[in-house]
Amino acid sequence: MEGDNQNINGAGPSTNGLLQDQRKLLPIARGRDALVREIQENDVTILLGETGSGKTTQIPQYLLESGASGSGIIAVTQPRRVAATSLAVRVAAEQNDKLGKRVGYSVRFDERSSPETRIKYLTDGMIVRELLSDPLLSQYSVIIVDEAHERTLRTDLLISNLKMIQGKRNHRSTGSKEKEKEKFNPLKIVIMSATLDAEKFSMFYQNAKIIYVKGRQHPVKVYHSLESQTDYVESAMRTFFQIHTDQTPGDVLIFLPGQEDIESLEKSIRLFANQLPHDVMDVLICSMYAAQAPGQNSKVFLPSPARTRKCILATNIAETSITIPGVKYVIDTGMCKEKRYLARNTGGGFDTLLTRAITKSSAMQRAGRAGREGMGLCFRLYTEDAFDTMDLSPEPEILRCSLTSSILQLKCLNQDLEDLDLMDMPDTESISSALKTLWLLDAIDQNKELTPLGRQMALFPLEPVHARAVIASREQGCTSEVLDIISVLSASSKLFVDVAEHREAASEARRMFRHASGDHLTILNVIRAYSDISTTGGKAARREWCRKHFLNEKTLSEASEIRSQLRQACGRMRIDWNVSCGDGEGQLLKSLAYGLAQNSAFLQPDGSYKQTMGHSVIKIHPGSVLCDKKVPAIIYDELIYTNQIYARGVSSVQKSTFTAIGALNRRSS
Ligand code: CDP
Ligand code: MG
Repeated sequence: MEGDNQNINGAGPSTNGLLQDQRKLLPIARGRDALVREIQENDVTILLGETGSGKTTQIPQYLLESGASGSGIIAVTQPRRVAATSLAVRVAAEQNDKLGKRVGYSVRFDERSSPETRIKYLTDGMIVRELLSDPLLSQYSVIIVDEAHERTLRTDLLISNLKMIQGKRNHRSTGSKEKEKEKFNPLKIVIMSATLDAEKFSMFYQNAKIIYVKGRQHPVKVYHSLESQTDYVESAMRTFFQIHTDQTPGDVLIFLPGQEDIESLEKSIRLFANQLPHDVMDVLICSMYAAQAPGQNSKVFLPSPARTRKCILATNIAETSITIPGVKYVIDTGMCKEKRYLARNTGGGFDTLLTRAITKSSAMQRAGRAGREGMGLCFRLYTEDAFDTMDLSPEPEILRCSLTSSILQLKCLNQDLEDLDLMDMPDTESISSALKTLWLLDAIDQNKELTPLGRQMALFPLEPVHARAVIASREQGCTSEVLDIISVLSASSKLFVDVAEHREAASEARRMFRHASGDHLTILNVIRAYSDISTTGGKAARREWCRKHFLNEKTLSEASEIRSQLRQACGRMRIDWNVSCGDGEGQLLKSLAYGLAQNSAFLQPDGSYKQTMGHSVIKIHPGSVLCDKKVPAIIYDELIYTNQIYARGVSSVQKSTFTAIGALNRRSS
């Protein structure tokens, strides 16, 4: 893959000595033998510890080096893929080994491992997926569930399944015949959490032992703003320059909700930094967010050059998953993005990312990042009153996210969500909404039983709606094109850079790609044009071409990785990915409609659109090719809520398509 993973803290013989010294100095190092013993003696260990103490990078190495993990693999799960990949890079370097040898990773659409791999960092989603092919996760001798306090949906499903698996694997059978047949292959579980809510995990695992690892925390002085701020990006910029001109050297870490804010703050800091007098230190800006390509964030971990202050712009990924050395000042906007399922009044529900106030536990974690190497300062861009009204800790994702994809995966394991032993049980409304979606997609039948189609859908590393479109494309003879489009839709960032103030310029620059049927075929036109550019021009030419057309190049390169993964998946299922419909847009839109039937709306006499499966009136997003068009029927990728409900990623389809694919008869039953 293009972003070279191996250059972070490069593992060479000379740097390795240094890394070994660093390892020995970590707070966790003193407790090494005791920790290994505890994990060996207990089936389940709950490990609590301050961020930066060395839990995630060291525990797996201790278990490996001491022989405690036996011949099995140690899995370390992470909620985010950047955390999984960058941790693997670091730990491979500490082991003085090439990434993918003894230390590897596995995230959706990307894997680095080999038969020699003994420590594997994977996303919680990946390990839940592995249950499909290996229901007892038998290749692992230790499974470390990291960042458990985040309570992602996949982490909760994993925690539930691990309890069941351990019951089976650690129970020596008594029947002598079986005993001979069955090789005893016990599993150790380690739950790691950064916050003090470990009781709940312990209770879930029959009062498992809780161990506390002390960190190296220095005092942090916290300042709140006196008035509430309306524009946190601007306010963060002002605060940064105050620190930069008034305070002693030390890096600044700024917490923002997401990529867009990071990019806009980066721009304005750069602009002002260029106008500073010469006697002020230079500013080096780095960023850290989930959608970054591996390797892109490597400079975050390197020490600042002389006479330079590093300014790190990060999302809550830097709260606990990733520790950045050198930070003395923290600026906390108090905001984060949270996934939330909107089920009510919208017909088929869906996940959306909402920017919202953080919780108290996040605020405390964020402040703590300033006190790793000495006394620190934290500037909160919100009032003390606002802090007091914050929720204590985030609500588990299982209570607020779409369950569609998880329920489908569980069905493949012969499990029903309702019957699982879970730490928190979702409400019946969101379960039935997910079941309805699966039924509309033909993944389950009227008796809620998995259909062969549903089983096939679950084999794709895709959202069920997208998997459905890929499967439909086989009959429609347009798999090649559908994979092109779905790859872009599955990438972690949007293809079309959409900045409100440049919307007209962008739309003008992208005119040549516009397809009359809407955004999906417009994406296809971009991919075709990009592939022409890629064969004729070099890297610089590609970059310039993307910039000129307001396209996100990262999305395109990520999409091409995803596409090759999807082609392999098709190959395994004997779907010929090479079948193309040329310019046969009808087949293409029909395939997409199979997946997106629930995301559809019909034009009303008054010019608005009304959902076919729900009751909401929606508008087409201003960034869409179809924005001012009136077409009889549309399908769309997602709805966004601002002052109105907007459909984004829209294509025009024939009304008759819905009858042809049988979507509307299901609606009312
Ligand atoms: O899991 P925990 O928060 O306890 O700590 P960790 O992630 O194991 O990190 C231990 C140390 O390794 C931190 O001080 C980090 O600065 C360092 N580290 C690094 O330099 N580069 C990485 N990619 C990951 C960790
Ligand atoms: Mg950690």
